[in-house]
Amino acid sequence: MTADRAPDPAAWSPPATPLEERAVAAQRGAYAPYSKFRVGAAVSLDGQVFTGVNVENASYGLGVCAERTAVFAAVTAGARRLDAVAVCTDASPPSSPCGACRQVLFEFAPDPAAVTVTAINPRGERRSWTLAELLPDGFSGRELP
Ligand code: THU
Repeated sequence: MTADRAPDPAAWSPPATPLEERAVAAQRGAYAPYSKFRVGAAVSLDGQVFTGVNVENASYGLGVCAERTAVFAAVTAGARRLDAVAVCTDASPPSSPCGACRQVLFEFAPDPAAVTVTAINPRGERRSWTLAELLPDGFSGRELP
């Protein structure tokens, strides 16, 4: 009988949010035959959720990350203002977005300090940051002529 025991705090993690659930579900569609590192991402823009997966290629350099696939789907649909991000990998501890993806997320973040980026894995482990923490002093394009 374990039902009447107090939960082990080290093993406990809060239930997945709807955005995290979408990232977990998306991960099943990852196309990662070369790296075997399967990634699912869910992004919330303008209150709508879009998902993406990493899509690799036999010509390795042509692969694209899940986060960028998700953002590009959102932008294609007309969404522009990024609220939150969830990324699911099998890594433990959960793996954070790569630098290129951080910059792409930054492009659509009206306030990077208000965008939560959560990395999870199917075991329910979780790490969270703001986008401003992941990409301090990111290039905004304001410097462009
Ligand atoms: N990958 C992502 O999809 N997101 C990241 O933030 C890190 C890396 C993918 C790219 C490649 O398909 C595989 O993971 C291994 O790098």
